[in-house]
Amino acid sequence: MFVEIVLTAIVFMFIGIYCILTKLQFITCDSNVCLNGKTALVTGGNKGLGYEIVLQLASRGCKVIIAARGVSEDLRKKIIKETRNPNVIMEYVDFSSFASVRNLAGKLKTTESKLDILINNAGVGKSLRTPTEDGHNRTMQVNHYSTFLLTHLLVDLLKKSENGKILFTSSFLAHVHVLTRRNVSRSGIPDAPLGNLDYSNSKFCSIISAEIFASKLKKWNINSNCYQPGIAKTEIFKETRKNLDNLLDTVIYFCTMHLLQTIFGVNPKLPSQTAVQIVIGDEFEHVTGVYVGKYFKDLKPRGARDDKLCEAIWKASEAAVRLKPEEKLG
Ligand SMILES: NC(=O)c1ccc[n+]([C@@H]2O[C@H](COP(=O)([O-])OP(=O)(O)OC[C@H]3O[C@@H](n4cnc5c(N)ncnc54)[C@H](OP(=O)(O)O)[C@@H]3O)[C@@H](O)[C@H]2O)c1
Repeated sequence: MFVEIVLTAIVFMFIGIYCILTKLQFITCDSNVCLNGKTALVTGGNKGLGYEIVLQLASRGCKVIIAARGVSEDLRKKIIKETRNPNVIMEYVDFSSFASVRNLAGKLKTTESKLDILINNAGVGKSLRTPTEDGHNRTMQVNHYSTFLLTHLLVDLLKKSENGKILFTSSFLAHVHVLTRRNVSRSGIPDAPLGNLDYSNSKFCSIISAEIFASKLKKWNINSNCYQPGIAKTEIFKETRKNLDNLLDTVIYFCTMHLLQTIFGVNPKLPSQTAVQIVIGDEFEHVTGVYVGKYFKDLKPRGARDDKLCEAIWKASEAAVRLKPEEKLG
């Protein structure tokens, strides 16, 4: 019993120190660049981190498209009032449905002539473990597969930008993912042993996606990077609590994430600046394929440099989202 308590204390101390470090990692957005003439899509831009990113992009004159489920005219008016930028557009999308993702991409291809910035921000902490209409793990589909699909479908619009930017959103929890060469098969990414770990797996896939998109899109001068926002006080924790459907996930959640966000959680305005600086800052103009951190430049989780594992995840994702041959990137 004593050993267990000591071990738990050590683990908490370790996580606590790590959180302090990640808190110190935020990059402040000090760019004064004007984004007039640029178009950005922010998935999940209606609240939390995404909302703060939207405000910063819109206040610099960028045309901003917000894609989420909870979009409304009132919210659009609120953003326009605050930023004095009338170029704010709301689009409905449900990331638990590939049909909805395809609808969004199809619509954007008809309404937009180019896309300069794609912020892949939409995500859930933990979903219920009921499969989606596409038959996948819900957390994996919302956080990874749909983002992976949408990014593929928008590549043609990004190519029309002079220097397209894609930013994926990961989490420090990606470091505890449980994906291996052995358990990722061509037919898919397996459910994790615990619902909470599906989140870690999905966020590991964000890091892998950013890196592989970077290498495939370099020839079109499109940058693709990933960042992690530390712990920001947003509704993601409330949503996660609603979906805790077994005792072990509940205990782990309350002993780790709940405690950590209560102690270390920051205002989402802070980490959202990191995201904006990565896509507009001069120092990031030629940076691509990186998991960006202020002090730890590219601190990827174990497995992220294992080419075979990364390729297996990419192939499994292509199969899961049922990419058509012409949609695949060479
Ligand atoms: N907060 C943190 O401490 C933290 C830490 C690490 C990483 N992150 C990541 O940061 C990103 C933003 O999270 P947040 O903290 O800002 O949480 P949040 O306030 O709950 O925002 C999540 C966003 O994702 C959208 N979303 C969720 N399910 C969706 C679905 N099925 N279809 C379309 N959009 C959906 C939500 O919009 P609707 O519900 O209206 O659709 C909302 O805009 C996530 O990817 C999260 O994993 C957050």
